Amino acid sequence: MTAPVRHHYDVGDDFYRLWLDSSLTYSCAMWEPVPGENLDVGGDALATAQERKLRFHLDVVGADRARAVLDVGCGWGSVLARLAVRHGVPRSVGLTLSERQAAHVRAQAYPGVEVRLENWLDYTPQDRFDGIISIGAFEHFATPADPPAE
Ligand SMILES: C[S@@+](CC[C@H](N)C(=O)[O-])C[C@H]1O[C@@H](n2cnc3c(N)ncnc32)[C@H](O)[C@@H]1O
Repeated sequence: MTAPVRHHYDVGDDFYRLWLDSSLTYSCAMWEPVPGENLDVGGDALATAQERKLRFHLDVVGADRARAVLDVGCGWGSVLARLAVRHGVPRSVGLTLSERQAAHVRAQAYPGVEVRLENWLDYTPQDRFDGIISIGAFEHFATPADPPAE
């Protein structure tokens, strides 16, 4: 599982900067429909639609009141950044299999943020989390060998 993920994400942050928004969020955005048009994609800029999506998830976990939040598959840390900087969450943990992503998040030195180069299957938290966020990572977790029930 680790090798394909690294092959994909460790090609270099510059490549992803070419086509992601500045937060390097790498999952589907939430677009506002254009009134009167039967389209899913609205007239937003990508960054606006990503910010809407991030706010949605942060609201769901009650980030304003949370003391600790886990982000499974944290990417380049757009959720972790908002937890730390906007919501002042004292402790956030991000899991990723990508060395480049982990290095990027560590370099930001967000207060209270720990990024771990660790498979979520192997991660044993020491303390409780008030909320868990995972955006765009579950598609990595399944394999063709998994029984449908799993
Ligand atoms: C498509 S990216 C989404 C990143 C981020 N959530 C976002 O929305 O920008 C998937 C993320 O899942 C991570 N990932 C994939 N499999 C994982 C696993 N088994 N354990 C932990 N992280 C994993 C990858 O390293 C990557 O950070």
